[in-house]
Amino acid sequence: MGGRVMVSDILQKAREYEEKYGNYIREDERPVFHLSPRVGWMNDPNGFSLYKGEYHLFYQYHPYSTNWGPMHWGHAVSRDFLHWEYLPAAIGPDEDYDSAGCFSGSALELADGRQLVMYTGVHSLLNEDGTRKDVQAQCIAVGDGHGYEKYVSNPVLDGRDLPEGFSSTDFRDPKLFQKADGTFGCVAGCRTEDGSGSVLLFESKDGFEWHFVTVLDRCYNEFGRMWECPDFFELGGRQILMCCPQEMSALGLEFHNGDCSMFLIGSYDETTHVFERERVQAVDYGLDFYAPQTMLTADGRRVMIGWMQNWDTCVAQPNGAKWFGQMTLPREISYRDGRVIQSPVRELENFHGRRVVYEDVPVQEETTLRGIYGRVIDMTVTVKPLPSEPYSQFRMKVASGSQHYTSVTYTPRTSTLRVSRDHSGSNRDIVHVRECFVRDRGGELTLRIILDRYSAEIFVNGGEQVLTHTFYTPLSADGISFQCQGKALIHVEKYDIVI
Ligand code: FRU
Repeated sequence: MGGRVMVSDILQKAREYEEKYGNYIREDERPVFHLSPRVGWMNDPNGFSLYKGEYHLFYQYHPYSTNWGPMHWGHAVSRDFLHWEYLPAAIGPDEDYDSAGCFSGSALELADGRQLVMYTGVHSLLNEDGTRKDVQAQCIAVGDGHGYEKYVSNPVLDGRDLPEGFSSTDFRDPKLFQKADGTFGCVAGCRTEDGSGSVLLFESKDGFEWHFVTVLDRCYNEFGRMWECPDFFELGGRQILMCCPQEMSALGLEFHNGDCSMFLIGSYDETTHVFERERVQAVDYGLDFYAPQTMLTADGRRVMIGWMQNWDTCVAQPNGAKWFGQMTLPREISYRDGRVIQSPVRELENFHGRRVVYEDVPVQEETTLRGIYGRVIDMTVTVKPLPSEPYSQFRMKVASGSQHYTSVTYTPRTSTLRVSRDHSGSNRDIVHVRECFVRDRGGELTLRIILDRYSAEIFVNGGEQVLTHTFYTPLSADGISFQCQGKALIHVEKYDIVI
């Protein structure tokens, strides 16, 4: 297909722009193995999927500035989740039905070898009183992994497919999946008559003709308002409905204010289409995480990736940025003891470089350890209390220099973990701290910390929780230190990551 696909002027202009200006961004100005936009602005991951043996990752993309603007889809491919190769922008807002943007969506491989992409087309309508309103509808494009042709009968789902009282002003983010019988399902977020969100299920025999099936779950103004970016999959015998509530009010330390992401864990009856929610879990407890999406690998792993940013904190951009927004490291997710567990994709271990290990180091005063430093590392730190003298606080600093650091503080009495980037170079007075409860292990704690120049992803106690933070400080701030009020033993294993 490739060369024969008609490329609109709008898409052509974006491709020429990214080709020209993307090349001005040096490799050493980007994260090493986290995907950043080729140029300009990136938000949600889209179309994260396997196609012809390669992982495809599209993203919400505004190449022309480092701020959100009319949405295109950027595009990259990888064979190992860590080396990403840019492809030309895949789609642009070039039709009446998507003239205000090609919003988030998903992709999968059809039996005939074509790649099916489903996204939200947004256009703006003039109301009688002169105000405008957005109309959102689900659209399709079909491609060969490089070029995409929008479907002649777009949109394939619009306001007419919605139940009474549901609004096409907020109807977006279709996530496709294929069922065991070869037919297709799709979940999308939608605002209901009470002003809050829901996740709707649609089905299709061929991927092109769709119909509404049911409302899988609803917010009822209990978890934020509108629910964006849903995903729906089986995990370890449970059914997970993932979604992103907007305008959330913090619920203790489980959820924070603003844009959240949550796993709704429950069961699903495929014949009655009833999803029974049993419990909720925050997806990430850090500052910079939103809009996750999952895919299944050929060897059966459920892998999740998220936007390593959040709407309320993205005002804090480094001066002179040529790109803004990153994806998280892809994470394998599994289900254990009532929780969804996350761990870095195992491919990361193939790129472990020099290893430095320390066993049973007693820590009190701020301590540094020879060889333990770096901004592109995979490091596991285990804190062990001494039976004779329990400690009252453990703190470590990473990405630490003369002025900057990010701190991670554990208080065993309350079993809370607190990550602060108050001293991580931000030029904005916005929230820079997150705190969460972690499982009380009698003072023992394991942290696996992945640093990739401008971010820290902290996997707690084998991935029971993750806290994700970005910081844009000079790379010379690469120190790591440990400190304890009282005394504890630490075990540290650090690998440089060599990509
Ligand atoms: C989530 C989101 C989606 C929407 C996209 C627009 O971050 O608001 O609901 O499709 O971003 O860029």
